[in-house]
Amino acid sequence: MIQKPAETEQKLSSIIAERWSGKAYDASQAISDEVITALCEAALWAPSCYGEAPWRYILCNRFKDEATWHKTLQCLSPGNQSWAINAPLLIITASMPLFTHNGNENRWSGYDTGAASLNLCLQATALGLMSHQMGGFDTDKLREVLSIPAKVNLWSVIAVGYPAPLDSLSDEMIERELKARSRRPLTEHFFENRWTD
Ligand SMILES: Cc1cc2nc3c(=O)[nH]c(=O)nc-3n(C[C@H](O)[C@H](O)[C@H](O)COP(=O)(O)O)c2cc1C
Repeated sequence: MIQKPAETEQKLSSIIAERWSGKAYDASQAISDEVITALCEAALWAPSCYGEAPWRYILCNRFKDEATWHKTLQCLSPGNQSWAINAPLLIITASMPLFTHNGNENRWSGYDTGAASLNLCLQATALGLMSHQMGGFDTDKLREVLSIPAKVNLWSVIAVGYPAPLDSLSDEMIERELKARSRRPLTEHFFENRWTD
């Protein structure tokens, strides 16, 4: 099991520093119902525009319904499948496109759903789990497999599980897993008083 805390100038809250998108999961360790409820509640308590909470999640738990979990796994890109196969929980992230109070388009639904998903991932870190969000999946196939209506926005699949030693991964993946995490400098993302190219 490896830890890859963010290297920062200032000390961050440990769950922010310690969350990282690892690929080595313990396929034999189930996640309890209580822990899964905590992940869902963490997402639910995210802020959202008008308190709409537009996010919807579909949980596919290999220890509860292996056939559905497996069908979901098969919707991932081959590269993602190669490691997500060891993650016992695959969570589909979706959102409703309209506000319920007036039926207008909710143009913040993606923003809000991202916030909820990060809450979920941070709660996972706090509970000793690892999470890894994925955009690499076949949306049409996933809609068909899980009966997701066309009007619903689909954003990601999040792999969740307990971390494991790296043995389950290919040599190439191990090399990437061991690489230090990095970010561009703060000044490329944060500007003072005006937009700065
Ligand atoms: C919306 C989204 C889509 C992503 N898609 C993939 C993916 O398909 N496969 C993958 O291995 N990682 C994916 N990632 C993980 C990112 O590569 C990862 O978050 C990024 O490299 C930063 O690393 P860290 O999460 O460990 O800090 C995705 C992350 C996000 C937020």
